[in-house]
Amino acid sequence: MTDEMAREKVYWNKMSSQYDQFVETEYQGLYKRARKLFSQYVKRNHKVLDVATGTGKIALTLSKKSKDITGLDISSKMIRIASSRSKGNPRFVVGDAHELDFKRGAFDLVTCCNGLHVFRDPAQAMAEMRRVLTAGGKLVTVTFAFGDAVLGQKMHNWGLFMKYGMPPNWESYTGPEIRSMHYKAGLKILKAIYCWNDPPTVLIVARK
Ligand SMILES: C[S@@+](CC[C@H](N)C(=O)[O-])C[C@H]1O[C@@H](n2cnc3c(N)ncnc32)[C@H](O)[C@@H]1O
Repeated sequence: MTDEMAREKVYWNKMSSQYDQFVETEYQGLYKRARKLFSQYVKRNHKVLDVATGTGKIALTLSKKSKDITGLDISSKMIRIASSRSKGNPRFVVGDAHELDFKRGAFDLVTCCNGLHVFRDPAQAMAEMRRVLTAGGKLVTVTFAFGDAVLGQKMHNWGLFMKYGMPPNWESYTGPEIRSMHYKAGLKILKAIYCWNDPPTVLIVARK
């Protein structure tokens, strides 16, 4: 394990016990919307991987539509919380987005909610998410675009870092930068919109 990976695990393990409360307080509206958006892309027969699943909020919602959902996260404590909420679907596993322990083409749909901006090498993670998709499979991501935020939103975010600590990897991407990450990974972009304004958040739907 690299030092950087160890720092990621320490930060997110520490954050796990306060994570749901943090989201409820700060991003309730966005997450309500995100759950609906992700759900639209799940079909009953889909095998789905939710990367950087955290406490499993998105994966648990998707499990109402498909019987084959896997949630993956680098933090064992996040995974413990997520698993305690599941009756078997989703199944939750500890793993690194940069080195997915799944075969090429294993999933029809890969989702990632607010993961891209905290990965140490998002291009590598994108390549992995693409690899595990079937030909024609979709990657759906929702990502904060703090590069597009106004000063007040940026200052509020810095206040949150003061309170919760700053993640070891955290990038302030713009919407176009997030879009181009998908394009550079060799994916065809089907949809790219700002799905939330405060803070600016981008939904990208892309196909392998
Ligand atoms: C902002 S949280 C988002 C969690 C969840 N997707 C959500 O939207 O509620 C970022 C998550 O990414 C996970 N994470 C960070 N680096 C990771 C990596 N290299 N591989 C897998 N998960 C990672 C963290 O443990 C954390 O749970």
